[in-house]
Amino acid sequence: MNILRPKGLKIITVFPYFYAKPDNPMPYENILVEPQHAPHIALIRLNRPKELNALNLQLMQELRNALKSLDADEDVRVIVLTGNERAFAAGADIKEMAGRTAIDMLKIDQFSTWDQIKKTKKPLIAAVSGFALGGGCELAMTCDMIIASETAQFGQPEIKIGVMPGAGGTQRLTRAVGKALAMEIVLTGRFINAEEALKAGLINRIVPAEIYLAEAIKFANQIAQMSPLATQLAKESVLRSYDGSLEEGLLYERKNFYMLFASEDQKEGMNAFVEKRNPEFKGK
Ligand code: CAA
Repeated sequence: MNILRPKGLKIITVFPYFYAKPDNPMPYENILVEPQHAPHIALIRLNRPKELNALNLQLMQELRNALKSLDADEDVRVIVLTGNERAFAAGADIKEMAGRTAIDMLKIDQFSTWDQIKKTKKPLIAAVSGFALGGGCELAMTCDMIIASETAQFGQPEIKIGVMPGAGGTQRLTRAVGKALAMEIVLTGRFINAEEALKAGLINRIVPAEIYLAEAIKFANQIAQMSPLATQLAKESVLRSYDGSLEEGLLYERKNFYMLFASEDQKEGMNAFVEKRNPEFKGK
């Protein structure tokens, strides 16, 4: 199996509430938020363990609010989103939705809260262990990168409960893994494991279950060392390749590249290279 298992790294078992500090400053009921889990890295943990982190309306509203405030927090450069060892999230909350009519669904428009996730300017890394199904898979795919534990399972099983993906699954999965596999996953509800997800291009890497979160934080830390301005514009530009034509995407990328030459970080980064030293980025 293609797993990164860093040599000499101590294996620890991550207890599900390990990161739930008692002084969690934000009053959320369904998520745990640590704005400074590590320098410049915020951690959001989905926290409905009994329901396998099923994404009910309130959880998604809390997630939207947390992302908005972390995006505005200048000390935060990268955000890691995780669940627990058994489940990242097993989908939208079926029990909450089961009795709704089409009119209820239109009026509640629950997926509109997801738009904020898409709008997050800072890099968002999903650290996935266990189930990432339906809305859980869609949530992971809405993040910019996915670090998966060797236990991760991805799927869009909505077809088995008489519906279909509703929060981007048919679009993002198809772009990530191609039409053939996306059709199979969406039409049969089959789960794919981490190995298959890696081969298909859905995830960035597989890491041992015991350290999946620590590895995601390490990965986030690598990105947090870069200029926050360059990171934001580079992320925006990569996402633009999803939305429009290649031509539009190329123009967008070029404009952002030129614009970065107005920043101190560009001067610092290039000068540091020439002077053979490490750059000190300030986000200016
Ligand atoms: N919504 C609400 N509750 C859920 C849930 C969900 N999506 N997924 C799991 N749960 C609940 C279960 O009902 C169960 O609750 P109780 O203990 O009260 O019975 C608890 O979580 C534990 O689940 P299981 O006992 O089923 O655990 P398992 O290990 O036997 O099976 C599973 C795990 C395969 C993930 C199974 O729970 C399952 O199939 N879940 C539903 C997956 C699904 O269909 N997701 C798509 C939802 S629709 C959607 O997401 C639409 C969209 O596009 C946004």
